[in-house]
Amino acid sequence: MNIALPAGAYEVRQWLQGAAHIAVLTGAGISAESGVPTFREAQTGYWAQFRPEDMATEAGFRAHPRRVWDWYQHRRNLLAGVHPNAGHVALAQFQQQHPGRLTLITQNVDGLHQRAGSIGTLCLHGDIFADRWLDTPRNCCHIDHAVAGHPPYCDRCGNLVRPGVVWFGEPLPYATLEAAQQAARTCELMLVVGTAGAVYPAAGLAQVARQACARVAIINPAASDLDDVAHALLSGTAGSVLPALLAGV
Ligand code: OAD
Repeated sequence: MNIALPAGAYEVRQWLQGAAHIAVLTGAGISAESGVPTFREAQTGYWAQFRPEDMATEAGFRAHPRRVWDWYQHRRNLLAGVHPNAGHVALAQFQQQHPGRLTLITQNVDGLHQRAGSIGTLCLHGDIFADRWLDTPRNCCHIDHAVAGHPPYCDRCGNLVRPGVVWFGEPLPYATLEAAQQAARTCELMLVVGTAGAVYPAAGLAQVARQACARVAIINPAASDLDDVAHALLSGTAGSVLPALLAGV
């Protein structure tokens, strides 16, 4: 097998071959090679004057609904022009070749895992393409009848449509988080791909896996906050390491 793998990858391949259940936690880094800026890369253009931490909040949306809505529309438009990369595809192909053996957990809202063909993806932070009501919908609130606007709204009660993502300070979807924690507790191997490991509870899943005696391997070209939780650190990009790591396992 003449594939270029970083140091430590052959050992991780052995762990993969012996693992009946694998959990994979991904972050913005797996979409970097698709051209999607990672979460903490600087905003560009008009949006550079705003901090994502101020806009990705309910308070930020209530204070500036048009600005926040247009920021998400800007990000949705960017995503319309990108495609899953070899890292997304390698994970999806592994799931298809080994049904039920790999549980994919992502912090990303870009939908690229799903577009690559991954199934049952646990989207801890929601989906940027899903809309929902800002306030509890009343009988008059029908998302399909929302009046177009920045943001769309209910013309009966004024309820606003918001992006279906988890904002800072909001709880993660309970069932999704519970399924992710169960996968972390029961896997023999967790791959942590393309995340700084700075945001909880998502980042805590690596510790859950380790405490459940799973092997933990990180794929990242840089150091992350989870490095001391890992048994192996594979220094490289998701688009180059994952296809080589998963091929023929
Ligand atoms: P970050 O932007 O914090 O970190 C991206 C990580 O990807 C960094 O560790 C990079 O080194 C790594 N990286 C960059 N290019 C890569 C590549 N080609 N292959 C592999 N890794 C690469 O993004 P996240 O850690 O995903 O939450 O951020 C986690 C959460 O913080 C986000 O989901 C968001 C934010 O608060 C919410 O919005 C709720």
